[in-house]
Amino acid sequence: MSLPANFLDELRARTPIAAVVGRRVRLSRSGRHWKGNCPFHNEKSPSFYVYDDGYHCFGCGAHGDAISFVMQSQGLGFMEAVESLAGEAGMDVPKPTPAAADAERRRLDLHGVLDAAAAFFQRRLHLPEGRAGLDYLRARGLTDETIARFGLGWSGEGRGALPADLARQDIPPAMLLEAGLLRETEDGRAPRELFYNRVMFPIRDRRGRTISFGGRILGDGQPKYVNGPETALFSKRRTLYALDFAREGARAGQRVVAVEGYMDVIALHQAGFSGTVAPLGTALTEEQLEELWRLSPTPTLCFDGDAAGARAAARAASLVLPMLGPQRSLTLATLPPGEDPDTLVRRQGAPAFRAVLDGARALSDALFGLLAEGVGPSPEQRAALRAKLIEAAAAIPDKGLAAEYRRVLLDRFYESRPQRPGSQSRAGQSRTGQSRAGQSRGRQGAPKPPPSFTRPRPGPETAAADRARILAAILLRHPALLRDVEEAFATLDLPEGLARLRDAILRWGQRAETLDSEALMSHLHHFGLAAEAAQALSAAAVPLPACASPDAMPAEAEAGWWHFFGLMNPGRLEEEVAAAGRDFALRADAAAQRRLIALCTARDALRRGEQDGGEEDGGEHDDPDAHAPPAQPLRGDN
Ligand code: UTP
Ligand code: MN
Repeated sequence: MSLPANFLDELRARTPIAAVVGRRVRLSRSGRHWKGNCPFHNEKSPSFYVYDDGYHCFGCGAHGDAISFVMQSQGLGFMEAVESLAGEAGMDVPKPTPAAADAERRRLDLHGVLDAAAAFFQRRLHLPEGRAGLDYLRARGLTDETIARFGLGWSGEGRGALPADLARQDIPPAMLLEAGLLRETEDGRAPRELFYNRVMFPIRDRRGRTISFGGRILGDGQPKYVNGPETALFSKRRTLYALDFAREGARAGQRVVAVEGYMDVIALHQAGFSGTVAPLGTALTEEQLEELWRLSPTPTLCFDGDAAGARAAARAASLVLPMLGPQRSLTLATLPPGEDPDTLVRRQGAPAFRAVLDGARALSDALFGLLAEGVGPSPEQRAALRAKLIEAAAAIPDKGLAAEYRRVLLDRFYESRPQRPGSQSRAGQSRTGQSRAGQSRGRQGAPKPPPSFTRPRPGPETAAADRARILAAILLRHPALLRDVEEAFATLDLPEGLARLRDAILRWGQRAETLDSEALMSHLHHFGLAAEAAQALSAAAVPLPACASPDAMPAEAEAGWWHFFGLMNPGRLEEEVAAAGRDFALRADAAAQRRLIALCTARDALRRGEQDGGEEDGGEHDDPDAHAPPAQPLRGDN
């Protein structure tokens, strides 16, 4: 539904957002703004800011205006939120134009038509002609209460009873056509009923209004289900079966679950899983995922335990990556082979499905298994898989989250190194999580010794720690670099003290309004990390390079940072160069150019250094990518 833009502007102008938010969040003044603990994720210190015209959470990225705040915090639809706010502001929601008002009236009329049809079908189910349908539903384990709650019915035999009955209520055939209950015939005779000799499943929108029907044949036969066509009310890709009930279920604390079919949804609701929905015979669409996220930050998608189920899961996982955020994820559950949720709860009861849900894997966890499925041990296949994993992580728009996925996926990749013939594939174990145990093994197969902080050895580890310290020092002096390097910085394995310093720097960087060194140092002081910061800047152990000096030019600092980063993780540096190249080709702006130059400068210095005999190269290889012979230019991943 569309509203005139000036109405919405007026509504926003008349709605003090701090007051709206303030009902749910304790706000305090912060300069010209307000801040408080974010209501959309769990946090102890406030990162949720309210401005004149909107809100933004620097922790989870939640963002919007008064209308979206009401939608998100109360689980309302757009129009519902508008109506509620308009009511408070003393405004009437207009029927925008005569044409729009007309369309709105027709929609209301269509709802009336569908309600009348639903009542007709429900009545028939309890007449003698509907007996076979009722017996069928009962034989499938549905109680009369469930049958009534879901409004199940019987279509009749398709001999004109539906249009005749509705005509008596002054509903003409033209309206039934528009509602998708009749269809035109080719030979120009009167339109025919779409549904006959079927049990009828009303499809309702999120507010519980009937918008279409699905009809199932009794027993075997084709097509098994017939669904209503797209109409002014019904869009298959935007609708989830039983969403109205699932909203209530979700509010009552039930897990939000998407399964495949009508009967699965109904059987699960009957078994107590009242947060369950299903798409309408197609794979989940983006619109349907958005609907799920309005109910829960981590809905569960449930897939069959066969090859087709695995394909569907892989498809869903890759569809969802570009849509992920800190408050928008998924878990994936797999059914026992040969069962669907309906057969499972009927044969084994609710605990069996509960167990399926409890076994649901986090998306980050499931993704590797899905992408690695069937990948062989050849270098070509392994390289292709690695590229796929990197690409998958890169599809996630949220930088921090993308870095986490990348780390998890590459960890898995290295731990799943090819096996000798005869030994078992590790990839197959990922479902149980057992393979995490192999995580610390390098690609060469020898287990790495556990990190030792009590017995510092000179050599590789120390060199790595020095470099990490230099990276931190450069950022302490030039925090403006954070925006460009935070993602890479976040991925490094660091010794404990430095890791805490790094995390504090990154957190500060995400919230700070201006990235200046003094503010950063005082923030660290405030958080008890002054000693760590001082140590990172101390020249006592190893003198700091010029690029870590406060006087270094920004470009020098940036190239220097990447240089030391590249010494720690050459493979990643090459990837950054490639990504910056692509980015520059796309955007061709000054920032992209600056970044590309800094990265290339670092990469070239590194290559020169290595060809000169590698004086920088202490032989440390924290990253398995670093096994290239020093005389070779570094391998890229592009
Ligand atoms: P399934 O074939 O898995 O059916 O289709 P089901 O839901 O398990 O139904 P029962 O248990 O055999 O009665 C899953 C969903 O795909 C759509 C329906 O939405 C169905 O619920 N579908 C299936 C169709 O739209 N048309 C069909 O012919 C078959
Ligand atoms: Mn079924």
